[in-house]
Amino acid sequence: MVSSYHAAPDIDVLTSNVAIPGLGLIPVNAFVLKGSEPVLVDTGTVVDSEQFMTVLRSVIDPADLKWIWLTHTDFDHIGSLHQLLAENPHLRVITTFLGVGIMGLSAPLPLDRVHLVNPGANITVGDRTLTAVKPPVFDNPCTTGFHDNTSGVLFSSDCFGALLSAVPESAAEICDEDLRDGQVFWATVDSPWLHKVDRGEFARELDGIRKMEPTMILSSHLPATPGAMTERLLSSLAAAPTARPFLGPDQAGLEQMLKEMTAGPQ
Ligand SMILES: [Fe+2]
Ligand SMILES: [Fe+2]
Repeated sequence: MVSSYHAAPDIDVLTSNVAIPGLGLIPVNAFVLKGSEPVLVDTGTVVDSEQFMTVLRSVIDPADLKWIWLTHTDFDHIGSLHQLLAENPHLRVITTFLGVGIMGLSAPLPLDRVHLVNPGANITVGDRTLTAVKPPVFDNPCTTGFHDNTSGVLFSSDCFGALLSAVPESAAEICDEDLRDGQVFWATVDSPWLHKVDRGEFARELDGIRKMEPTMILSSHLPATPGAMTERLLSSLAAAPTARPFLGPDQAGLEQMLKEMTAGPQ
């Protein structure tokens, strides 16, 4: 079920929880950044597109949106992308050259409606300037989050996500242990390459986020997180490369799951 809440006076979160059998809940967030040129950050899951549009309409008239910031092209981020483009002919998509290329394999973006921004570059959207950021952890090569230079909020895409047993509206409500375990686990699931990275290089990447001193971190897969918790998020991620690599259930595990789904737990 898609719902919404305020993360800040000018930022709404559109969220739904995806249950991963046996593992927990992963929140899937999109954001409306309100300003003189409103920005929608990602567009929900493909399966929940209809509900997403209903909740979006309760937050903002899609005709008032000026930009979609597409952090990457995974199915939990592109759900209502083309419907929004069809409804609002003035809407433009901020992405990368690679993002356009990947979308071209299934649902091409009209090239006259994209605006390419590479990590480190800025784009001015009305009364605010956004700086594109390549987050330290990602699951898709076109991933680009951003730092809003006006509010100081970091939109981190999949980075800092966590598998949780319950999903509150603020990460401050999650106890230290659950947040750390949930984050580390998600990182091993979503970014298995983390186990192969040079630890010093990874620490420098994390330090780049530390130096930004975000006032809030808005991950696609974690409740809104106050900036005061940045160090906690960073230290969880720092532990991920040495955590046990994730290996999904095998065929016997799947058959057990199917049995439980039809007969209930034994
Ligand atoms: Fe992703
Ligand atoms: Fe995602």
